[in-house]
Amino acid sequence: MNEESRAVAESYDYTVSEYVASEPRLAAVDHAPPIPDYLQDTYWWAYLHPKALHFFEREWVVNLILWGNMRKLTQAVLGDLNVQPNSNVLQVACVYGEFSSLLAGHLASNGSKLELVDVAPIQLQNAREKLAGHQNVGFHHQDSSALAFPAAKFDQTVVFFLLHEQPEDVRRKTIAEAIRVTRPGGKVIFVDYHGPRRSNPFRYVMKLVLTWLEPFAMDLWRQELPAFMPDSVRPEQLQSEFYFGGLYQKIILTV
Ligand SMILES: C[S@@+](CC[C@H](N)C(=O)[O-])C[C@H]1O[C@@H](n2cnc3c(N)ncnc32)[C@H](O)[C@@H]1O
Repeated sequence: MNEESRAVAESYDYTVSEYVASEPRLAAVDHAPPIPDYLQDTYWWAYLHPKALHFFEREWVVNLILWGNMRKLTQAVLGDLNVQPNSNVLQVACVYGEFSSLLAGHLASNGSKLELVDVAPIQLQNAREKLAGHQNVGFHHQDSSALAFPAAKFDQTVVFFLLHEQPEDVRRKTIAEAIRVTRPGGKVIFVDYHGPRRSNPFRYVMKLVLTWLEPFAMDLWRQELPAFMPDSVRPEQLQSEFYFGGLYQKIILTV
């Protein structure tokens, strides 16, 4: 384990051996991922700065950012998390508010586990504190575009509002990795922005906000999400739902 991995382990309040045990490949590979450039350059104020956590880590703030749709979109994911007892579910990237807590509680009811990945140590530490009351959650310091998990490890995978934050090449890798680590017959659930209908009055304000603050998000307005999926994905594997006049989408991919 290199110094960076050791520092991360200590910052999580794990013992180093607990950390290695939770992610066995760390023992063999020094792969603690660096913070990606787009996260550092474009999103430092939202996810990396300690004051960001104080501001954003409230359900009402994330609900406001999603125009009151946070609970509805969370329920849309929970409704599709109908896993068998003792299943493993992956959440790719932390989410502010109660999202992970609701997922963990839902999965605990039938003995299933939630594994949570994030590339930012400060976000993982925050999630550990926030989810301390849940015994069925694991934490992994990994980059979504190069996951360290073996193929087909998870029964379901959830990617909630991550793809719009990533440049196209990273987004494509994240999608491919989410599919790779989900078992055949399992589901990958993507929830993210989408180009709203022309009649949607939020269209114009959101175009300004996203262009200013979240420049990669406009990709998801211009193209449908399947355009960023591997060529091997067939249309019959996909099921789409749209919310709030088309501003949000949920796509379920059956692997
Ligand atoms: C899921 S997204 C946005 C979620 C939503 N907007 C919210 O309310 O939190 C934010 C998270 O993605 C993480 N993230 C961004 N790029 C990542 C990557 N390449 N690998 C893993 N996590 C990543 C950030 O560190 C951050 O914790």
